Amino acid sequence: MSDKKATLSIDGKTLELNVHSGTIGPDVIEVSPLTGNGYFTYDPGFVSTAACESKITYIDGNAGVLLHGGYPIEQLAEQSDYLETCYLLLYGKLPNQTEKETFVNKVRMHTMVNDQMSTFFKGFRRDAHPMAIMCGVVGALSAFYHDSLDIADEHHREISAIRLIAKMPTLAAMTYKYTIGQPFMYPQNHLSYSENFLHMMFGNPCEPSNVNPVLAKAMDKIFLLHADHEQNASTSTVRLAGSTGANPFACISAGIAALWGPSHGGANEAVLDMLEEIGDASRIDEFVARAKDKNDPFRLMGFGHRVYKNFDPRAKVMKQAADEVLAELGLENDPLLKIAKRLEQIALEDEYFVEKKLYPNVDFYSGIILKAIGIPTSMFTVIFALGRTPGWIAHWNEMISGAYRIGRPRQLYTGPEKRDFVPLDKR
Ligand code: SDX
Repeated sequence: MSDKKATLSIDGKTLELNVHSGTIGPDVIEVSPLTGNGYFTYDPGFVSTAACESKITYIDGNAGVLLHGGYPIEQLAEQSDYLETCYLLLYGKLPNQTEKETFVNKVRMHTMVNDQMSTFFKGFRRDAHPMAIMCGVVGALSAFYHDSLDIADEHHREISAIRLIAKMPTLAAMTYKYTIGQPFMYPQNHLSYSENFLHMMFGNPCEPSNVNPVLAKAMDKIFLLHADHEQNASTSTVRLAGSTGANPFACISAGIAALWGPSHGGANEAVLDMLEEIGDASRIDEFVARAKDKNDPFRLMGFGHRVYKNFDPRAKVMKQAADEVLAELGLENDPLLKIAKRLEQIALEDEYFVEKKLYPNVDFYSGIILKAIGIPTSMFTVIFALGRTPGWIAHWNEMISGAYRIGRPRQLYTGPEKRDFVPLDKR
């Protein structure tokens, strides 16, 4: 922490506020003394608010930089894998060979869910949105682990993290199988994490597992690219829920609910719906015009970001992965990919998007790969939630393992002043 000070002069008073510096990134001004002087800060959408201190992930939105534990996302995507990145997020360092094998095996030994879980699915309509099911069944996990919900116990926190990372693919695949009326598939311990997920998604009891290694590798990269992203809306939701002392399964369920929105994790599903609605490159200009029209609520899904005012580094990796996966599958002429690339090119040359610094984000190309893998559009945000679980649980654990207080923001009140109640017959 630095010994810098900020001075605020207001109503003839001068307040001196502490300024703290991190390892990299903007300094922060500690504003808590304002309350004692009769003021609140006002920052709708938390555009300029640092809600916590964290060591997990760093983003430089202007430079298009994303670091997990100091490692650039481009290097992790190229040289690491999803479970190794999960370890990095949870423990703050890359595992050595023994640590990695132990962690991978721990996750492998927790991929099954209690058989009673399958009963929860039967309460949903078959056409329920998969995210509605995931909100329910992930929260319901807390009903099975009464023996390890003491959040003050670091071993309970660690086993909960392992269980969530291990069981999200199983629950996600069960959700998909339920919506298509196929039997649930059990995880297979001889398969890797991403192979197992594709086996549980697309396998069936009538034939042996047959997972395409190209698709498993692409799936693993997609999980990795979604693993964490600093204090985004769903992670902040997990932290706020966790600050009340709620159990980790309930907190992750809250994160899943927040992620569902089309402005956040729901954007990958919305991008595919948008590309399919555009249908042909000849209609792109019409949609770009709508996105620029203040009177039209339509936005170009997959573009723009609260923090990135440059290319989202994940989008660059995702675009390259889309090219590779589609070429390996012989789908390089996929019409949606062609529309997406043309749309990106037009948007990046259009002065509206240039002036507002609206670049493709992580959601713009991910849906194209997911579609090529065979994941239905309605499952896209479930895939995002699965990928983001280690980030959510790492932030939850970082908060709970340190000193924290319940999150309780204040407000600028503009409602009526105090007035007496008016009986019904006098209104
Ligand atoms: C994710 O926070 C994270 O880190 C999130 C995430 C993660 O990994 O957790 O990165 C994942 O959520 C990525 C974002 C996915 N969402 C979308 O692709 C939906 C489309 N994008 C927008 O809804 C928007 O860009 C947001 C929600 C992403 C960001 O919203 P902000 O920061 O509140 O910005 P804004 O809405 O105030 O937009 C600034 C201006 C506005 O115009 P003006 O009012 O200044 O005239 O840019 C315009 C907006 O109208 N604008 C767009 C636009 N995005 C912003 N105009 C057209 N199309 C768009 N996509």
